[in-house]
Amino acid sequence: MNKFSPVKAAFAVVMLLVSMLCAYKASAQTKADEAKMNAFVSNLMGKMTLDEKIGQLNLVVMGNAVTGTVISKGVEDKMKRGAIGGIFGLYGTANVKKMQDLAVNGSRLHIPLIFGLDVIHGHRTIFPIPLGVSATWDLGLIQQSATIAAKEATAEGLNWVFSPMVDIARDARWGRISEGSGEDPWYGSQVAKAMVKGYQGKSLTDADAVMACVKHFALYGGAEAGREYNTVDMSLIKMYQDYLPPYKAAIDAGAGSFMSSFNTINGMPATVNKWLLTDLLRKQWGFKGFVVSDYTSLNEVTNHGLGDLQTVSALALKAGLDMDMVGEGFLSTLKKSLKEGKVIQQEIDLACRRVLEAKYKLGLFKNPGKSLNAEKEKLDVFTDDTRKFARQIAEHSFVLLKNQEQTLPLKKSGTIALVGPLADNHSEMLGTWVIAGDPNKSVSVAEGIKNVVGDNVKVLYAKGSNITDDSLLSIRAFALTAPEAKDKRSPQEMIDEAVETAKKADVIVAVVGEAANMSGESSSRADIDIPASQKDLLKALAKTGKPLVIVLFNGRPLTLTWEDKHASAILDAWAPGTEAGNAIADVLFGNYNPAGKITATFPRSVGQIPIYYNHKNTGRPFDGKGGAKFKSDYLDISNDPLYPFGYGLSYTTFSYGGVQLDKTNLEGNTTLKATVTVTNTGKYAGEEVVQLYISDPVASISRSVKELKGFQKINLQPGESKVVSFNITTADLKFYNDKLIYDWEPGQFIVQIGTNSGNTQSASVQWLK
Ligand code: BGC
Repeated sequence: MNKFSPVKAAFAVVMLLVSMLCAYKASAQTKADEAKMNAFVSNLMGKMTLDEKIGQLNLVVMGNAVTGTVISKGVEDKMKRGAIGGIFGLYGTANVKKMQDLAVNGSRLHIPLIFGLDVIHGHRTIFPIPLGVSATWDLGLIQQSATIAAKEATAEGLNWVFSPMVDIARDARWGRISEGSGEDPWYGSQVAKAMVKGYQGKSLTDADAVMACVKHFALYGGAEAGREYNTVDMSLIKMYQDYLPPYKAAIDAGAGSFMSSFNTINGMPATVNKWLLTDLLRKQWGFKGFVVSDYTSLNEVTNHGLGDLQTVSALALKAGLDMDMVGEGFLSTLKKSLKEGKVIQQEIDLACRRVLEAKYKLGLFKNPGKSLNAEKEKLDVFTDDTRKFARQIAEHSFVLLKNQEQTLPLKKSGTIALVGPLADNHSEMLGTWVIAGDPNKSVSVAEGIKNVVGDNVKVLYAKGSNITDDSLLSIRAFALTAPEAKDKRSPQEMIDEAVETAKKADVIVAVVGEAANMSGESSSRADIDIPASQKDLLKALAKTGKPLVIVLFNGRPLTLTWEDKHASAILDAWAPGTEAGNAIADVLFGNYNPAGKITATFPRSVGQIPIYYNHKNTGRPFDGKGGAKFKSDYLDISNDPLYPFGYGLSYTTFSYGGVQLDKTNLEGNTTLKATVTVTNTGKYAGEEVVQLYISDPVASISRSVKELKGFQKINLQPGESKVVSFNITTADLKFYNDKLIYDWEPGQFIVQIGTNSGNTQSASVQWLK
């Protein structure tokens, strides 16, 4: 036992007092700042007319960031009248300055505008799509990606970004699964926090900080049948346990604003849902920022069947919506609603106050042009450093799905056949939701290979197929962008050329998959295979008998059952961003050993969807043995996914020892230490994401079979072992019971640690209250 040391004890007491004093001072400072803000805003609002107050609630779109059928008109005139609170879609110091000057110098009260944009995975320098970024399991990198995006965005006059999207998604048909962090509430919460911190920095008044807008509140990822904008209907337990945590985590990280979602919740569209926007968001969770609608989501409440624009705008204000995006429901109806007593003055004032507070927190009243610095724009945007980072995060996002007989890494010699419609392509490298990124500045895979191995490797290229020959898919996927530049040859001619090329090579690298716009908003797919033209190409290539490496572009988990069986290796590159080709070549040739792990389950077939690792057991669980009747299974397919959540290979191999627990019987609020030894048993140095899951086999309600509660990314040299330990507390055992009380229940818990959700070692404890 340690001896009692008076010196140590005194030191501990002093440290405690110091930290209490600091906390007291910080909270006193916050209170003083708040009082100052309140006084400023109250004073300003005292001078505002009703029209000017309603004007602050109006967000208009300019530029080309249009995602609906309505666009804003008469912006300059409205601005002079004080009928606009903010603009989104504009960027570049000259563009932003022009509008800010109009607002500040041309309007009666000189109130600055807030300037927003969809900065989703980088601003000018584009990083992998968010689903790819989440596959890094590296919160430091994730946060840094947001910090860099904020620096680039502020350099172009922006102060508000419509990110992070924290919607949990368990349905790969839904195109927007690409914009989030996958299916897990715990991991999604960590990513949400990292992104908010990265965007908002230390203080929103800093020149490099932007205000985050957390979206889409709420449950948008639960759209029925994975069909975009569809109805969401789920139990409260599922909501609280599995879908809401990332939104709450974003608030805890200080997020300044929220965006309401397009869908219904409990039958009530989110944009007019008082339970959601006031009771949950503000009363239960203590959110203090402002809520903006999604693009015309307020007007769309009419289609949901709740009445005309006059009616639904009043509902929205009363529910707690503060700003109306594009549709001008507030602008055109609130005055009349006030006259008729359908809304009250305090409700308009409250919304106006929240918008003004956001501008105050951003420091815009003191310095409306704080981000308007043409020099900064030149220095901070698309630099060598931002590109270097883009290459690094892209490499870390790749997931090695298959690597039979160590096909990868490739030798830096010999001949490769580089095949596929995405192999020598710039337009598809950046992925979905890119507004300011320039595809022409991205690195193609062909260029990347040249950059990384020069002339040491002979590269023979053949396009092999178009991205798609399906005319419906082509028209709809490319509705907003230039259509695919189709090769005029017949599919067979292209395949024949690719096969001949492959025959002359040692190995085939086929760069195939989805075009950028086959995922993202309004891009649901009922068939999530690689498009048929490319699949035909792959089948012909496989027949050559040459090793076939697939480099996959995808904005969602795809059904890869055929590919998994017939390809020698599959490297999932998502949509890697600006540095796509360089990052892919680094990994193909072993300059970086891939370590990404998927954050959304890959199904075998679309019929398994929704499929996710943290499902319930059911009353008749299937044990995987064939021939059983009356079990929860399919006649024609296994229950198992093709690749489970958390899955990803490395060029090296890792072995896991058993899980060691420092106690097996515990009581009360104590800490359980779980350790495991991980060894690099292969030839390459590599990183491994060690994952901790917990199961609660007996509880007052049916629980998920397991839940992720922690992870550590470690680096091991060949032959090296590391002991990885996790401290588990009762906070990790808590769940929402049938009364929606968040607590833990005593009993048995199974601690599981492993390389993915489907491959863990376990040990059991009894934990009593
Ligand atoms: C999307 C949002 C986006 C907004 C503004 C909407 O259609 O759902 O994610 O932020 O448009 O561009």
